[in-house]
Amino acid sequence: APVTVAIDGPSGSGKSTVSRGLASALGLAYLDTGAMYRAATWWCRRQGVDLDSADAVTAAVAVMPLEMGIDPAAPAVVCDGVDITAEIRGSDISSIVSVVATNLDVRAELRERQRAIIAAERRAAGFSEGRGIVAEGRDITTVVAPDADVRILLTADEEARLARRARELHGSDDPDSLAATHAEVVGRDARDSTVSTFLTAADGVVTIDSSRMDAARTLEVALGV
Ligand code: CDP
Repeated sequence: APVTVAIDGPSGSGKSTVSRGLASALGLAYLDTGAMYRAATWWCRRQGVDLDSADAVTAAVAVMPLEMGIDPAAPAVVCDGVDITAEIRGSDISSIVSVVATNLDVRAELRERQRAIIAAERRAAGFSEGRGIVAEGRDITTVVAPDADVRILLTADEEARLARRARELHGSDDPDSLAATHAEVVGRDARDSTVSTFLTAADGVVTIDSSRMDAARTLEVALGV
């Protein structure tokens, strides 16, 4: 039967690496829901929408022409015909994405699209063995797919998460890079946690603490869940 794996966690927990690794290892599709909030932010800016107007943001996202790639080896994000996969990872988007992601009408719209993608993949998988999808984000285990076959909360202490993100974003975890990363990541996680509970595991969700494990070991542990 098709399988759904739900993975939540904060920034720098290793969520994307583990989710893509799991999907590749198990032959499953992959859905990065964070990329959908990033794409929505990109789309609002492209449409010249005033981010302070919740209604204007909601209206824009309702008609966003978004295509989510679900290949874990190369999950392309295409919006309005433009490949925005790389651009939406930049700090221009990261610094404002929470404004869009804390809009509850936006969340309702994107959750509906996420559920449709998950359902379509499960249908496509049919009854074949070992097919399905890994979906990652901040509210997948609790709201988008609480009925998933496997639910994991990936955590890491703040020091480990900051060091990882600093190396990703600035190529180093020296004090300057850590300070810059702190400004970006800690504020965003605090804003995000006003609408999602991704810092503590809900009932039945397995917590994996990756603070003292590398990516390969974390994947190994996740495969064992
Ligand atoms: O990789 P990182 O955890 O830094 O961010 P991401 O997964 O790409 O998510 C980007 C942003 O999307 C988050 O900061 C949240 O504002 C939002 N998000 C959300 O609200 N709900 C989700 N299920 C996934 C992401």
